[in-house]
Amino acid sequence: MTAPRRLVVGISGATGIAYGIRVLELARAAGLETHLVVTPAGQQTRAYETDLSARDLAALADVAHRPADIGAAIASGSFRTAGMIVAPCSIRTLSAIAYGNGDNLLTRAADVTLKERRRLVLLVRETPLTLGHLRAMTAVTETGGIVMPPVPAFYLRPASVADIVEHTAARALDLLGIDVPGLPRWGEQPATADIGIDNKEAENE
Ligand SMILES: Cc1cc2nc3c(=O)[nH]c(=O)nc-3n(C[C@H](O)[C@H](O)[C@H](O)COP(=O)(O)O)c2cc1C
Repeated sequence: MTAPRRLVVGISGATGIAYGIRVLELARAAGLETHLVVTPAGQQTRAYETDLSARDLAALADVAHRPADIGAAIASGSFRTAGMIVAPCSIRTLSAIAYGNGDNLLTRAADVTLKERRRLVLLVRETPLTLGHLRAMTAVTETGGIVMPPVPAFYLRPASVADIVEHTAARALDLLGIDVPGLPRWGEQPATADIGIDNKEAENE
C-alpha cells in the first residue's frame, strides 16, 4: 500500500505563521494534496503577521477545513494521509495533542495521525519553556509525535528571514519523506563555510 500524496497542515496561534504558509507552498510545489485547518488564534496571528486575508490563506491549500468541523474527512483515520505538520504549534495546541484532547479539528486530526501511527511534526514555538511545556513535549514524543521547534541553523548563513523560514519548512517536510528540491544538506553541498582554521594554521599551533 503506497502512502497517499496528501498532507494535513495545522496552523495554531503561536507566532510564526510564515512557517505554515511556506509548508503549504512547498507541499503544493511537491504535488501534494493539502488539507488545512487554522485555529481562531491562528487567524489572529495571520492578521498580525501577514497581509493575507483568511481567504488568501485558505487558497494556499487544496481543502481548507473549519476548526469546528470535527466531522471533516481529516477527523477520521480511514481518510489516508502521509501525515500532518502543525506549523506553528502553540503550547495550548501541543498540550491538547499530547493528552489526546481532540477539542477542535486541528487537535482531533493530530490525534488521528498519532493513532494511525502516521508522522506528526509539531513546530512548537514558545520561549522560555516551563517544566509543564517540556512535559507535554515528552508526552507527545512518547506517543510518536516529533517535536521540531523552528530553530534556525546559522551555519547555512541565512541572508533573510525568508531563508530561515524556507529551511525549517523544508526540513519539516523532509521528516515526512517529502522531497524539497534545493534543501541544503550538510556534506552534500560544495563547501561554503570558511571555519577560520586551515590545516596549515592547525599545524602551526
Ligand atoms: C501575537 C501573538 C503571538 C503568540 N505567540 C505565541 C507563541 O509563540 N507560543 C504560544 O504557545 N502561544 C502564543 N500565543 C498565544 C496563543 O495564541 C494562545 O495560547 C491561544 O489560546 C492558542 O490557541 P490555539 O492553540 O488554539 O491556536 C500568541 C498570541 C498572540 C496574539
